Amino acid sequence: MPPQDLLNLAQQIEAADGYVMVSPEYNHSMSPALANLLNHFGSSLYSYKPSVIATYSAGQWGGVRAAVNMRTFLSELGCLPVSAMIHVPRAQEVLNEDGGYAENQDARGWGGYLERAFEQLAWWANAARRYHESEDGEKRPVAFTRSPSQRNAP
Ligand SMILES: Cc1cc2nc3c(=O)[nH]c(=O)nc-3n(C[C@H](O)[C@H](O)[C@H](O)COP(=O)(O)O)c2cc1C
Repeated sequence: MPPQDLLNLAQQIEAADGYVMVSPEYNHSMSPALANLLNHFGSSLYSYKPSVIATYSAGQWGGVRAAVNMRTFLSELGCLPVSAMIHVPRAQEVLNEDGGYAENQDARGWGGYLERAFEQLAWWANAARRYHESEDGEKRPVAFTRSPSQRNAP
């Protein structure tokens, strides 16, 4: 039997209509902790739902290189990323320790930037939830169950 904490987390993931995938950039990739979490639960919990990619870094690129390969990863999981992405460069200067904006930041500008991505996520999450709840929502295309070679062209 898996630990109760993991069972609780699985329930929370399953109940969600969409996901905000937040990651720092480590070696031009997503955080290994996030990759591990996604791999652990796999597409059975995340697929047929949308995600938005939100990255940050201490430097000037805001994790954009990690974001590009997160798109591939999340697409493979079936947790389709919306087109807008969020990148926060120099995160240590943008945010304070409580998670709010630092005093010298354009909070309104950041708000508009985040809103665009979250509105896309909400649109797709609502659309997917309605379809999941419909009669056809249960009829999912067959997932591969034997080996990855099931993906191969004939
Ligand atoms: C092992 C490691 C690799 C990193 N690789 C990158 C990188 O490729 N690009 C980048 O912009 N920042 C890189 N950083 C800096 C992190 O993005 C930065 O420290 C960030 O604040 C880490 O987030 P965290 O404090 O929430 O873990 C790296 C940091 C570490 C520790």
